[in-house]
Amino acid sequence: MTHSVLFVCLGNICRSPLAEGVFRDLVEDAGLVERFLIDSAGTGAWHTGNPPDPRSIEIAATYGIDISRQKARQVRAGDFERFGIILAMDGSNLNTLWARDEVGSADIRLLLDDPPRDVPDPYYGGTDGFEEVYRLLRFGCETLLRRLT
Ligand code: 4NP
Repeated sequence: MTHSVLFVCLGNICRSPLAEGVFRDLVEDAGLVERFLIDSAGTGAWHTGNPPDPRSIEIAATYGIDISRQKARQVRAGDFERFGIILAMDGSNLNTLWARDEVGSADIRLLLDDPPRDVPDPYYGGTDGFEEVYRLLRFGCETLLRRLT
């Protein structure tokens, strides 16, 4: 395993499951699956055990990516040892991660960091929001893979 990447949002049902799916798809297309550990989690626990939001499943499917079997989970202490790269979807979740006692040597930062910007929370909005989230995640994941390979 060369790289271990954890995508983190608030609920782990909208943005980070989609980020996980998009990044895994790019890694598979590049033939690099054996070199990556990829997962996602939420800073909140409300949706633990649930599949992604139907709107995230649908936008992923539109682009040929199946995220329907993912299950939401909360960030846990062991994540800070297991994952070398922890990518927050927005500044609020980044601050929540930084505030934890377990923060060790992991590289914890925003997915979109040059320039820094949030992937906006689409939960309470319409389906347009999920198209925008997909576009931002795709850009962020392509940039990430380029940097790591
Ligand atoms: P996510 O979106 O952080 O992208 O998974 C949200 C999902 C659920 C809630 C907030 C954001 N919620 O408040 O339940």
